[in-house]
Formats: sequence, C-alpha cells, structure tokens
Amino acid sequence: MTKVTFIDHAGTEHQVEVEKGTSLMQAAMDNGVDGIVAECGGACSCATCHCYVDEAWVARTGEPSDIEKDMLDCVLDPQPNSRLSCQIIIDDSLDGLVVRLPESQF
Ligand code: FES
Repeated sequence: MTKVTFIDHAGTEHQVEVEKGTSLMQAAMDNGVDGIVAECGGACSCATCHCYVDEAWVARTGEPSDIEKDMLDCVLDPQPNSRLSCQIIIDDSLDGLVVRLPESQF
C-alpha cells in the first residue's frame, strides 16, 4: 500500500493508504475525502478532480497528457502544478505523495 496525503483548502490533512494501480481520484473517493467531485468517473472529461501536486512531487507524477492539458484549461485557478487526479495512477514510487485540493471543488 502507498501512503498519500490530501490537504483540503482549509489545511486539514487526510492521509490514506492506496493500492497500487488505483487512481488518485479513486483513492479520494474510496476514502471519503471531500474536494474531489469526479463527475465523469475518471474519463478525463470533466476536470472536477483537479488537484495541486506538492512541488516536491511534480517530477515524479510526470507531465499531463495533451488531453489532460486541454481539460486543465477549464479549471478555476490553474497553477503550474495542477493535475487531474484521475490521471495520476498510484504506484510504489509515489509513496508519501502530497496533493492539495482547490476550494472551488468544495
Ligand atoms: S474525474 Fe472527470 S476529469 Fe477526472
């Protein structure tokens, strides 16, 4: 299991254990973490699973695909470390990952 920490817009941390191969979005949903809406269920077509990857983890989570970049153009308050959490698949290299959740999804 991989540990992931979600930090909501109020600064509250939610640490969850995630099985390898699970998307970050699904991990939030499975653990009742507020701040991920995921209207499209992970199809990269709604942008309501927006998150900000902690700067220390940006290189390890990789670059968004072109489709994901297009969807990120639709989010409120995009930042250079913005990602769609349904497009980040958890593996062992992401143990300790920290992401922040935007206020707009609460
Ligand atoms: S859940 Fe819809 S884009 Fe991620």
